[in-house]
Amino acid sequence: MKDKMLSLLEEADGFVSGELLSRELGISRTAVWKRIRKLQDEGYVFESAPRLGYRLLRGPQRLSPERLLPRLAGMSFAADVRFLETTPSTQTEAYKEMIAGAGEGLLIIAEAQTSGRGRLGRSWFSPPGAGVYMSFLLQPDIPPARAPQLTLLLSVALCRAIRQETGLAAEIKWPNDILIRGRKVSGILVETILEADRVKMMIAGIGMNVNTMRGEFPPELSDSVTSLMEERGAPVVREELIAAFFTHFTQLYELYRREGFAPIKTLWEALTVTLGRHVRIDTPQGLAEGVAEAVTDEGALLVRDGSGRLCPVYSGDLTLAPFQAD
Ligand code: BTN
Repeated sequence: MKDKMLSLLEEADGFVSGELLSRELGISRTAVWKRIRKLQDEGYVFESAPRLGYRLLRGPQRLSPERLLPRLAGMSFAADVRFLETTPSTQTEAYKEMIAGAGEGLLIIAEAQTSGRGRLGRSWFSPPGAGVYMSFLLQPDIPPARAPQLTLLLSVALCRAIRQETGLAAEIKWPNDILIRGRKVSGILVETILEADRVKMMIAGIGMNVNTMRGEFPPELSDSVTSLMEERGAPVVREELIAAFFTHFTQLYELYRREGFAPIKTLWEALTVTLGRHVRIDTPQGLAEGVAEAVTDEGALLVRDGSGRLCPVYSGDLTLAPFQAD
């Protein structure tokens, strides 16, 4: 029965009405809807329109270990790659593995997440077949104050990988969102585990909207996010994107170990859309507003406020002017 429904949808050149599906399959309209939901869970993507019915946009596309692993061969940050079909969050999974004894080299990649986590307690939209959701462990042997440097380093690696694989003008919004034409395509969540006065482990989580279609995003996100496929006009091979990220990350990490944060900061400054702009930052201490002038070695953003004072901002949600209505 499922095959017949799929063939009807696949063969149609456009929308297929719920009525036609119900007639052809001899099931109720509710049962048709339930089957559509089930197919969605399996990674099929449909556009649905009130009077037109359903249009199949994309079948399940799966990340392939066979395509990815040869591309990661020899990379120390991806020495032990674990693929998961669906997980609540690769961050949580990586944390559990760390508690069980895993160290640097562990990389967890999921096809989908059911409770993907973003910065500042937000969620990360993680449907199957379209994105990259991965977390890996880092053991940098640095004091906690230097942890934000690695977050900025990660964003440079991600931005470079996206530019290389898509040719798109990806930019970094402080601290580490990747934007294309002002819309977010990728985010980084770094969780740091401390032991005495050192960093014991960092869990670096990366989410990318790769082949997501505009209509797939939840309505509340649709104005602020985009995907690489939407921006480029053609799908992007996720395995190549992941490999490009680790290539850039490895190079930058070696540079950081050799020469410290200064060259990383210069690279970050060259890719950021934030410096020189009027910004408003919602911080745990309140609202900061002014012109973003620089980043410090601690990864703080220096904002010159209306009275000319330079204030360091360590974390928060940044909006670039012109601001949305409050
Ligand atoms: C943000 O911009 O708010 C950060 C988003 C980070 C999302 C990634 S997806 C893989 C990893 N697992 C999670 O639950 N979150 C991160």
